[in-house]
Amino acid sequence: MNTPNQLTSEIHEYGFRFAAWTHLIPESEIRRLLRYKVKYYFAGGKPGVLPLEAWTQILKDVGEELYRLIREGKKRDVLEIFNYEKTAGFDPLRKVLADRLEKDGVPMPKDEKERINSVTIVTGSQQALFTITNILIDPGDIVITPAPVYLGMLGPLGMHQANIITVPTDEHGIIPEFVEKAIGKAIEKFRRIPDFIYVISDADNPKGTTLPVKRRKQLYEIAVKYKILIVEDAAYRDIYFGGEKLPPIKSFDKNNEYVAYLRTTSKEAAVLRVGYCVLPRPIVDEFIKSKGYQDLCTSVISQVLLKEYYEKWIDKVLPKAVEEYKRRCKTMIESVNQYFPPGFHTKPQGGFFVWYESDKRGFNASSFLENVALKNNVNYVPGAAFYPVESLGYYYNPDNNEIERIKFPLNTMRLSYSLLPPEDISEGIKLLGKLLNEHLK
Ligand SMILES: Cc1ncc(COP(=O)(O)O)c(C=O)c1O
Repeated sequence: MNTPNQLTSEIHEYGFRFAAWTHLIPESEIRRLLRYKVKYYFAGGKPGVLPLEAWTQILKDVGEELYRLIREGKKRDVLEIFNYEKTAGFDPLRKVLADRLEKDGVPMPKDEKERINSVTIVTGSQQALFTITNILIDPGDIVITPAPVYLGMLGPLGMHQANIITVPTDEHGIIPEFVEKAIGKAIEKFRRIPDFIYVISDADNPKGTTLPVKRRKQLYEIAVKYKILIVEDAAYRDIYFGGEKLPPIKSFDKNNEYVAYLRTTSKEAAVLRVGYCVLPRPIVDEFIKSKGYQDLCTSVISQVLLKEYYEKWIDKVLPKAVEEYKRRCKTMIESVNQYFPPGFHTKPQGGFFVWYESDKRGFNASSFLENVALKNNVNYVPGAAFYPVESLGYYYNPDNNEIERIKFPLNTMRLSYSLLPPEDISEGIKLLGKLLNEHLK
């Protein structure tokens, strides 16, 4: 194998020697696709239903309150809002979120101070994914993920050169029996216990699947049995339209030991780059240490605005938004059924995404995107973006109970219904279906 220096010295005409990971990991497909302006945007998970009136009111209310404080001679208090804060977050927001999390099934201590300390604020839950990887992974360590997996998890894992063992999923998400077998095989093959299992239990990204309660319990039991951390990414927890919500895996973790529970404000409030998490006691100090070296703290004014939103607005405005996402999801599913060539697609109960797999195994969704879809004003994310790169990726194959080098189908796509109104979704999916049908004739 090349050393990082050999890899890099040829690369840059100015002689900069980039870190090895920069050659291993390509730019995120979603960030790349954000550069193309298309009419029918089905690529990234951009929230399309944000409570804009509420936000203008919150800005006004907070602005007036700060102005009042200045007039009353309390400039010092206002100065704090535009300043550095504790790395772990702004306490009033942490308290409001702790109360909400408890109502949502997350175990919380009774003591007020401990409750506040149970919630760690991050600069987007993307930072939590990076930070957990940063404190747990050395090159060659092992992480278990679903196949396919959220590509925002793949980036940090690749940067830290983790071996990524992907485990098969079905229409209900990751299959716990295979997770346990993959752990056993990982121990045999790599002589290491995986450092964590990454899973999105509610409305997965990219597949849109929701894990049944039985699987949630099974995963928790596996975590305890093998003493492996579960990273439960609940980014879409509040964008759920499937009836009563299921208990998070975190709800079984009564002593706060094995599950890192990650939430974001991006989908349910606005993209202010604030996430929040409940971290197991054994990792919280290292986590905050790492976050501190990344950003010192998360923007305080954003946290002040979000405290207002979670305290006074979310319960009034979110149900309407969720209803609208439900409508968009329904429209997308109906349009895929009506216009797409034969294939399988998921039927999400929440979140932003439908996953489609063409019956034609030879179909290449990546080249179709470049050569046909983008030229016709439509985009989506090819499914290939949600699998690890070859040098780091593995696949647990249930057929022979072996861990093999990664392989994955190219005939898949992730379609986001979050951004566009239903009329544009049906028009765009009709157009994409026509193009696919012509291409696959
Ligand atoms: C599953 C999942 N996790 C994490 C994130 C990152 O969210 P944030 O905006 O909080 O960084 C996203 C964003 O799309 C996501 O889909």
